[in-house]
Amino acid sequence: MGLSDIGAAVLRRLDPETAHRLAILALKVAPLPAPPADDPVLTTTVAGLPLSNPVGLAAGLDKNGEALRGLARLGFGFVECGSVTPRPQPGNPRPRLFRLSEDAAIINRMGFNNEGLEAFADRLARRPRGTVIGANLGANKETEDKAADYVAGLTRLRGLADYVTVNVSSPNTPGLRDLQGRAALDDLLGRLAEARAGDRTPVFLKIAPDLTASEIGLIVEAGLDHGLDALIVSNTTLDRPETLLSPHRGEAGGLSGAPLKPRARAALNAAAEAAAGRLPLIAVGGIDSGAEAYDRIRAGASAVQLYSALVYEGPGLVGRIKRDLAARLRADGFSTAAEAVGSAR
Ligand code: FNR
Repeated sequence: MGLSDIGAAVLRRLDPETAHRLAILALKVAPLPAPPADDPVLTTTVAGLPLSNPVGLAAGLDKNGEALRGLARLGFGFVECGSVTPRPQPGNPRPRLFRLSEDAAIINRMGFNNEGLEAFADRLARRPRGTVIGANLGANKETEDKAADYVAGLTRLRGLADYVTVNVSSPNTPGLRDLQGRAALDDLLGRLAEARAGDRTPVFLKIAPDLTASEIGLIVEAGLDHGLDALIVSNTTLDRPETLLSPHRGEAGGLSGAPLKPRARAALNAAAEAAAGRLPLIAVGGIDSGAEAYDRIRAGASAVQLYSALVYEGPGLVGRIKRDLAARLRADGFSTAAEAVGSAR
């Protein structure tokens, strides 16, 4: 256990939102050493973006892009910040973040608390170089025409991020998930394609795990029709599996972590089936080990992301996943992670 893992153990004893704030502050100021160079067997690409390893940080931990340098130093192959909304907003009343320790899970109903697009863009303009950084876009709670908020985000952040994620799958903003329906999605993706106006920054779409295989199939087709670059599968679930033990299991919001695994895997399989290699996929949801990352890659993901497991396992997890993944790739005779993508299909 490293020093930073001991720090993580201390944080777990605090109220979750205080712990989160302290973690961000620590990542901002701690003089973390640069991580060792990645094992070349971990190399992959997503939508043309070269990654030195396929393990990314999922959106929501650094909503304002405050700690990008520190987060990159944890060894992630890419770091996604946000969700950011055009205007600053406070999010839902507290408490809104719950640790379900018995279940290695989290429930959150943060509601896109963030400092808004201007503060976010200023920070991205001073971003660390040499790390792939994604910007995750949300929509303000009060916005009637939600698609306009994504267009505003895409336009304002042009040239500042390596990729942009359009998050239509947070369960904590009323109406947001409706953008995943075919007509609304066609409108949204059409307007985004127009706003890109030839700019080649990849645009990804992040979807919910609470969709049927045929709904996911329609999203894949809409994505292909509108020149989307990749699909992120998935956000948190509204489902509450029977197996949950924690007293917080009845809290409203999105569930993430270990109990999300089966749903996130099923959604990934549905997306891989529908995409048939035509649209790159990024897997998220309950990823907590090299074995789990490897499974998702073989199921069709070009890369993976995680959040909840980092809270339970501490930052040493990133290195452990990478080491284990490298060993598994070699044992199966792959010379890069990219070669293993979809190999179990
Ligand atoms: C999230 N997640 C998230 N996703 C997103 O696209 N925008 C966001 O602002 C947030 N915010 C957020 C806050 C908190 C506290 C959590 C736990 C999660 C979802 C996250 O990126 C990821 O998709 C899920 O958490 C599933 O992955 P894990 O946590 O099971 O690895």
